[in-house]
Amino acid sequence: MQQTMPHNHLSSDTTEGIHQLTRRQLLQVSAGTLGLLATSGISLAALCPSVTTPPQTRGPFFPYDQVVSFPIREEDDESLPLILSNDNDLTFIKGKPGKAQGQIIYFRGQVLSGGTSDSKVCQTIPGATVLLWQANFSGRYNHKGDVSSPQHFPHPKTGKLIERVQDDYFQYWGKTVTDEQGYFLFKTILPSFYPAADDWYRPPHLHFSIQAKGHPEFVTQTYFKGDALPNIALIQDLNAKDWILRNPKISPTQQEQVIVEYAPDQAQNLQDGLVGTCQFLLAE
Ligand SMILES: [Fe+2]
Repeated sequence: MQQTMPHNHLSSDTTEGIHQLTRRQLLQVSAGTLGLLATSGISLAALCPSVTTPPQTRGPFFPYDQVVSFPIREEDDESLPLILSNDNDLTFIKGKPGKAQGQIIYFRGQVLSGGTSDSKVCQTIPGATVLLWQANFSGRYNHKGDVSSPQHFPHPKTGKLIERVQDDYFQYWGKTVTDEQGYFLFKTILPSFYPAADDWYRPPHLHFSIQAKGHPEFVTQTYFKGDALPNIALIQDLNAKDWILRNPKISPTQQEQVIVEYAPDQAQNLQDGLVGTCQFLLAE
């Protein structure tokens, strides 16, 4: 698949890395420039996380064209499938007047491969397509399979009924492409927990698919921690009980790797949201 990054609202900085991202740089670095670098195929060395990222189920709510409740297409190119037709800012939809409900978050990722136990040096993966899909602030997906779910569900602690509603201003899924250092960035909102079965609530989570040259599609999920997040005590409780995160095939170290800490941006460059950073190390 050709790797392109059209109409991205947000871009990670190409020279100083993810920790040096500034609003000025977001504005200055054009998507076209980044796209060119991302398709150059240059891999750079980077420090490795200690474990590979655990693959996790795609789940039932991947937004294939035929199954979404209402299509969202920000790209004019009708030949693109819906999952590829949106950008990396999920907090609004082009042409609509409102903003998505919920706590704004930024997800800064880096895609890596390789590394040895001796050197702990990885190769960055430029030009990888990264897809994100998730529930909205009330725990609902844009997916026909989710419409049949109860419109209300009891809060897991208080029992108070929570209404699950569509958010007409939330983008629900997005796409971006990694830069030459393997970095990517999404702006989105903290999804709600939601009931998955009797006595099982999924904790808030983000779904990712990474398509990188030379690797099979990699699908995983990330979770939330950090005292600045709303309802963090409940989130931690649900994290502890989640059957997907706590799969015994996933080592405790790998589990911790996908529980991403969110906090106000220390450099105060992304002041309207909480920022989380995660490395995805793909197995060779
Ligand atoms: Fe999910």
